Amino acid sequence: MTDKELVLKAIEAMKNSYSPYSDFKVGSALLTESGKVYTGCNIENVAFGPSICAERVAFFKAISEGEKNFSKIAVVGGKGGIISSSTPPCGVCRQVMREFCSDDFEILIVRENENYGKVLLQDLLPYSFKPEILSK
Ligand code: THU
Repeated sequence: MTDKELVLKAIEAMKNSYSPYSDFKVGSALLTESGKVYTGCNIENVAFGPSICAERVAFFKAISEGEKNFSKIAVVGGKGGIISSSTPPCGVCRQVMREFCSDDFEILIVRENENYGKVLLQDLLPYSFKPEILSK
């Protein structure tokens, strides 16, 4: 699975976004170390609070299927599904990534069309509260 293929899967997943309140559609594609891909989209709710981001949907699908090791995630978003700028993962999603991924976990953030930039989790969430801290 190339980075480009992962990005295309995120773009495809964005089409399933349920976002009648923001009209901001987000898609994600999470690659496991074994080469499997779990996709996600944002799913909103009339009560707002129960809404969930595309990244967490992909993670929770994967975790619930027994996956534990992840190498990268592609994220894409845009108003009305039009990709015109980057959609960096929100703080809550970064913390969820922190739970299951190491510092070198890669986040591919689509900018426009199929162009993307790559950042590491250690740069998205530096000096983080992580599971190892509780085991000390
Ligand atoms: N959203 C995501 O799915 N991922 C992010 O990292 C940022 C925000 C969603 C949540 C909400 O449905 C919409 O984008 C607007 O905030």
